[in-house]
Amino acid sequence: MSSCLVDPAGRRVSYLRVSVTDRCDMRCTYCMSERMTFLPRADVLDFEELLRLCRVFVKHGVKRLRITGGEPLVRRDIGPFFEALGEWLHHPEQAGSLEELTLTTNGSRLALYAQTLFQAGVRRVNVSLDTLDEERFATITRRGKLAATLEGIQAARDVGMAVRVNAVAMAGVNDDEFDAMLAWCGKVGADLCLIETMPMGDTGEDRTARYLPLSEVKADLARRWTLEPLAERSAGPARYMRVGETGQRIGFITPMSHNFCATCNRVRLSCTGQLYTCLGHEDGMDLRAILRSGGDDAALLAGIQAALDRKPTGHDFQLGAKPGEVSGPVRHMSVTGG
Ligand code: GTP
Ligand code: 5AD
Ligand code: SF4
Repeated sequence: MSSCLVDPAGRRVSYLRVSVTDRCDMRCTYCMSERMTFLPRADVLDFEELLRLCRVFVKHGVKRLRITGGEPLVRRDIGPFFEALGEWLHHPEQAGSLEELTLTTNGSRLALYAQTLFQAGVRRVNVSLDTLDEERFATITRRGKLAATLEGIQAARDVGMAVRVNAVAMAGVNDDEFDAMLAWCGKVGADLCLIETMPMGDTGEDRTARYLPLSEVKADLARRWTLEPLAERSAGPARYMRVGETGQRIGFITPMSHNFCATCNRVRLSCTGQLYTCLGHEDGMDLRAILRSGGDDAALLAGIQAALDRKPTGHDFQLGAKPGEVSGPVRHMSVTGG
């Protein structure tokens, strides 16, 4: 298997995040603004195009695919898309060496899809859930229903998937709930991952006021919970600890206080076929243009490698911007799903 997906800093790209839609049935305050304009459908890659691009990545060394959005499960025919990707897990000779297929979802439609996803080969899912309080959930997501996400998590557990709950830690919003969320995750058998808020696109939210360094949260939690270091380090951005009282893990994603860029293993494909080699930079490579002008796999690979040759050594996120200003990339998180 050729593995040319290496950047000038020697970082090997083995992980691709694929956003299949910029649309979402929620409008989380840290992710989108209240009024979002979504892309015309013609701009969005169809499933054949997405599969074609994914196949080039997988043939050249990507081993893990994470499907994101927007909300991936609002896209029509997402079931067959997962089934098609899942074929590569079951029959590696068809594409290369795919080892894992996962997704990140807001959970609203997870109960509907849990069985299909499991059958396609998905064994773990990350579900965004920032609070267990119904009113708060409605405020944070602007239009989500807590019960649907909780049902989705339960359905995923019931079919046998590992679940990680993603909670963006926000000062004055959900910082009084981490104990309750840790206990709840213990009960349902899920890991909990706390995430520092990143300034992407203007969402109308004061990110600086909301920012909570997770080192402080961890030290506080350690007063009441037994947090044991884990021998194995994850390849992704989360740094995990075992929670002695529940047996589950707690993860911390700290792009703002301790970035993990030096060991970055990933790139992201937007639903319009832009390849972003760093979440925290504007620079993208238009793979759709190569695809739609009849480019073959060699041309696509050349485009991918040219983008990798420019992969930034680290992100550009900075706090300090007020609502209405942007201090990081202008695009919203929903364009690449994180
Ligand atoms: P793994 O597949 O286990 O590595 O999952 P993940 O943590 O990367 O996936 P998820 O979609 O759940 O993302 C959780 C948070 O991590 C989101 O806030 C993402 O924006 C953030 N994240 C993921 N990858 C990167 C990255 O390369 N850089 C930065 N700064 N944040 C990232
Ligand atoms: N900062 C940090 N995490 C974010 N997410 C969405 N927007 C932001 C942000 N501005 C998280 C969601 C989801 C994951 C893909 O990214 O909660 O779990
Ligand atoms: Fe939708 Fe996820 Fe963004 Fe919330 S964070 S608006 S659920 S894409």
